[in-house]
Amino acid sequence: MRESRKVLLEGTICNRKKLADNIYHIKIELDKEFPEYSYGNFVMVNLKEELSPLLPRPFSIFRAKKRSLELIFKVVGVATTLLATKPLPYPVRLWGPLGNSFPDGKDMLCIAGGLGLVPLYESIMKERYKKVFVGFRNQGEVYLLNGLLKKEAFISTDDGSYGKKGFITEFFYQCLINEKDKGTVVACGPQGFLKRLWEIEKEVKNIEIYGSFETHMACGFGVCLGCTIETPKGMVKVCSDGPVFRLKDIFGE
Ligand SMILES: Cc1cc2nc3c(=O)[nH]c(=O)nc-3n(C[C@H](O)[C@H](O)[C@H](O)COP(=O)(O)OP(=O)(O)OC[C@H]3O[C@@H](n4cnc5c(N)ncnc54)[C@H](O)[C@@H]3O)c2cc1C
Ligand code: FES
Repeated sequence: MRESRKVLLEGTICNRKKLADNIYHIKIELDKEFPEYSYGNFVMVNLKEELSPLLPRPFSIFRAKKRSLELIFKVVGVATTLLATKPLPYPVRLWGPLGNSFPDGKDMLCIAGGLGLVPLYESIMKERYKKVFVGFRNQGEVYLLNGLLKKEAFISTDDGSYGKKGFITEFFYQCLINEKDKGTVVACGPQGFLKRLWEIEKEVKNIEIYGSFETHMACGFGVCLGCTIETPKGMVKVCSDGPVFRLKDIFGE
């Protein structure tokens, strides 16, 4: 997992599109080229015209190319409401790419829940995985569907309003039972989803699951200690030691 090198960038949100219920895609034009990055890296975004929120917010890199950066976010609070509603063009300041990344490898399995699809989508499009599982809460929150269908991803919703009905972790579990070569799994989703994957890893054996974790972050590069969590091996900083960790290292034996 390669360490990223961060730079400070000035940007302008020049395009915004609603993808699903409360889920938006934004395109940011940058003052300079975005550095090389890896799947799983993130950026800290500061709304430089606003007095509140003062602190920047972390977002996974959806896609970056030359002088443009694309993010996908769900509206949950102050910053995301502003990002979804402010008239465009809208100026932002950002730091990135930050954090470590998902492991490289062939024939891996991939599982994403909700917004956890954002850092994994581009790697799914590049056919890095032998099987892909994606879960959403309901049909209203399904996004990036065309690409997922092209790559024959297995899709479920919790309420069955699109795809198979049920938690994606349980379909993944069923698949693992029948899978001979289990190997490496990359995962991104909410805390409960990652916890369930850890239960599955313990039961199924012969798999290594790497998950991307979310915490509140104030700086994003290891200085403020605001993202520190306790693990069986001691305290870790999610922003700079992660956000991608082997589930075993976070949840323990
Ligand atoms: C590495 C990383 C990558 C992320 N990538 C994405 C992404 O690609 N798309 C996306 O939509 N979101 C992503 N997030 C989450 C995103 O940072 C938060 O949703 C955002 O900071 C909320 O800001 P806000 O001001 O709108 O919400 P606030 O007004 O600050 O909070 C609203 C509510 O959300 C909760 N909350 C806020 N941030 C977090 C968090 N990090 N973990 C748990 N609960 C939180 C608060 O406790 C509160 O209940 C990522 C987080 C991390 C750490
Ligand atoms: S967010 Fe500041 S140390 Fe991690």
